[in-house]
Amino acid sequence: MKKQYTLFFALVFLATGFFGVEAPCEVATSAPSAAKISTVPELIVLRAVTGSKQIGNGVEIRSENAVMQVTALRDDVLRVRVGIQGQLPEDASWAVLPTARTASVRVFAEEDSASVGFRTGALRIKVDRSTMRLRITDLKGTLIQEDAIGHPVEFHGSAFRVYKTMAVDEHFFGLGDKPGSLDRRDHSYSLWNTDSFGFQESTDPIYKSIPFFLTSRGGTAAGVLLDNTWRTSFDFGREYSDAYSFGSEGGPLDYYILYGPDAKHVLSTYAWLTGPTPLPPLWSFGFQQSRYSYHPESEVRKIADRLRADRIPADALYLDIDYQDHYRPFTVDQVQFPHFAQMIEDLRKQNLRVVAITDLHIAHLPDANYTPYDSGMTGDHFVKKPDSSVYIGKVWPGPSVFPDFTRESTRKWWGSLYADFVHDGIAGFWNDMNEPSIFDTPNKTMPDNVQHRIDEPGFRPRTTTHLEIHDVYGMENSRATYDGLLALTPNQRPFVLTRASYAGGQRYAATWTGDNSSTWNHLRLTTPMLLNLGLSGFGMSGADVGGFVGSPGAELLTKWIELGTFQPIDRDHASDTSANQEVWVDGAEQEDIRRRYIEERYKLLPYLYTTAEEMSRTGLPIVRPLFLEFPDATADKHPIDLDAPNEFLFGANMLIAPGIYPEKPDTYPVRLPSVDWYNYWTGEKIGENMLTADSSTGNPSGLVGRQITIKPQLDVLPVFVREGSILPMQPLTQSTIETPKGPLTLRVYPGKNCTGSIYLDDGLSFAYKNGDFLRMAFSCVETPKGITVHVGPHQGSYVPWWTSLRVEVYGSTTAGKAVVAGSAQTVQTSFDAPHHVAAFTLPDSGQGEDLQIEWIR
Ligand code: NOJ
Repeated sequence: MKKQYTLFFALVFLATGFFGVEAPCEVATSAPSAAKISTVPELIVLRAVTGSKQIGNGVEIRSENAVMQVTALRDDVLRVRVGIQGQLPEDASWAVLPTARTASVRVFAEEDSASVGFRTGALRIKVDRSTMRLRITDLKGTLIQEDAIGHPVEFHGSAFRVYKTMAVDEHFFGLGDKPGSLDRRDHSYSLWNTDSFGFQESTDPIYKSIPFFLTSRGGTAAGVLLDNTWRTSFDFGREYSDAYSFGSEGGPLDYYILYGPDAKHVLSTYAWLTGPTPLPPLWSFGFQQSRYSYHPESEVRKIADRLRADRIPADALYLDIDYQDHYRPFTVDQVQFPHFAQMIEDLRKQNLRVVAITDLHIAHLPDANYTPYDSGMTGDHFVKKPDSSVYIGKVWPGPSVFPDFTRESTRKWWGSLYADFVHDGIAGFWNDMNEPSIFDTPNKTMPDNVQHRIDEPGFRPRTTTHLEIHDVYGMENSRATYDGLLALTPNQRPFVLTRASYAGGQRYAATWTGDNSSTWNHLRLTTPMLLNLGLSGFGMSGADVGGFVGSPGAELLTKWIELGTFQPIDRDHASDTSANQEVWVDGAEQEDIRRRYIEERYKLLPYLYTTAEEMSRTGLPIVRPLFLEFPDATADKHPIDLDAPNEFLFGANMLIAPGIYPEKPDTYPVRLPSVDWYNYWTGEKIGENMLTADSSTGNPSGLVGRQITIKPQLDVLPVFVREGSILPMQPLTQSTIETPKGPLTLRVYPGKNCTGSIYLDDGLSFAYKNGDFLRMAFSCVETPKGITVHVGPHQGSYVPWWTSLRVEVYGSTTAGKAVVAGSAQTVQTSFDAPHHVAAFTLPDSGQGEDLQIEWIR
């Protein structure tokens, strides 16, 4: 049975005399397991307020020798910092942008005999004078967050833990791609970047550490970023039924609270705080084929030829570690790849780009003319042991040395190593093993006492141990790669794929979920992992399609390729010991299904790229849980995703509903939240012709919307489109390098608040920042006679590939008569009864049009 925090601390209060510096006692040893600190002898808890002063944007409070500062960066963003040695921790961050960290808003002091605090334009902050509990409400008094009763903040030597009260209906999301359920409630987690080959549902920690989570209660959301790179831990009601907590083994107690009230707002605030994902190159949204490893050169060419011969649309081929000479980063095995640069050029002629792996472990090769080692030693770029000798650990190349990525000069040097590969035409780079993974140490990473030098604005220049840098090391690796590529080709958007990262890492790299397995359970795990990544700032992500460890059966691979169509990154990747896993491996029947899905992704590229551009401005991820768009989908406003864990949104308007148990033939329910929906494949409006209504289950989740029952079919991944959407689509191409031929299609799904848009640019450069893009807005209104579709004028200077528009109106019952407003000219329409669609094509003048379509009944 779980302990109740409130009750537990009431008893402790009686037993210990409450606050103060205490000898080890029941409190320290029976604190939540995630916070167990064996070597720390002393428990320090914050006392009652002994002094306070208002500062420009907040309040500073003292409790004996402890100091706590609560400040407002914006009306809806607070920062809390606590130090116990009479001063605040260092004001620095790897995650938070300096502009955000130093932002400030005017606040209004509020004090009375019970509390000290202030008010912003959105929040009221009170710190209780007798307990030092922090309580935050909105201005109407709705509770956003409050410290737990008892001792809300405790220190054990250099470790600390913060406790917050937890309501029975509170749910938690985020912390990156940790496996398990979407909702983090009732679980605890540790953040310590770990190479977790073959991870399973309950494996923790895994590769990334993103100490950001979202709380959601009755439709009110808030976010918390614990900005601490040491080994941190989070407990969402696992230990106590009425409290959640977060803490660290060391480093600053420095956290940010982001107020919603809606989750979408919290996510865009998080992007303001830590930076959004930059707009990725268009080609990275194409299908990507990978394997550990395609080699020799003839094998790479064979894969490229087969993709083209079988007409599998694709944009990228990956080179995993076997292209290198003895696995030495930044080398090429000349025996296996005698015409490396030529191969890259030839693949480009087949409209395929190459992504190459460049791991961070540099082979320890003194006197061997290995430039990365020699230049790294000359520049003093490798991390060292306490005795000042360079640290050597074993990875793929054997004994290896490791760049000191927290130094700017080391990152610059690392970036320069890419010059030859960039010159050869390699389009993207893959930073793997950067937890860092090390084979011959007991903890599978660097020893704790390895020394890192910090040279970063905000931080005091200093040398620190691996304990502080471990969780941010992979992010700084990908930062060095990203910045290096920018320096080499300043007008090209870098594509970097990283395995390890930290909060804010989305500024530098896309990511994937690491070494998953070719099992049905892992196919199912993919959705919550990618959703939580998106809720943690990483909107550009993927999971190895087909699974990495093991070999998928034919149906599993087909279902996985179907799902991969609707992931931000669609990359088929397998391990060195897996059977072949390409689209064609199981014969023509399976290949045909798989090809159809990849083709659909290419047709949807305008919609996907438009969503990606939105992500780059707002921080909203490409794949989204339903509650992000439909917080009102349940009567009590609990996230509908808790009842529909298999469903997710692809952009704002498409709902994807794979089977809960996709390996089973059983029917399953699909919840369609809040509004009306259309079946993407058949064009049918759900509700007018409802699929089998599932009356037997009633409505246990309090769903506001529709529930339908799906009978699984191997070749169908159910996809629905929200009423009132206009989806831009393009003619099929085999690669994003090919120019689509034909009109831009606008799929119009009539309904409430009908809108849509398209964003387009050259897909590669930064010219869009100077206005060289194209943006169009669309809308539609149902009229008594039919429908009016408004096509907005072209904005921006980019010239699109189309000259005409094909407008498809779904839910139609007749061909109708289309008239361009003002011209009195009737446009020829066609009608496709099985797909419920009336369609017509007209020139796109770029000036904007109002199209009136009248149904002839
Ligand atoms: C581990 C990565 O997770 C995997 O994707 C890669 O194929 C291998 N390393 C080999 O580089």
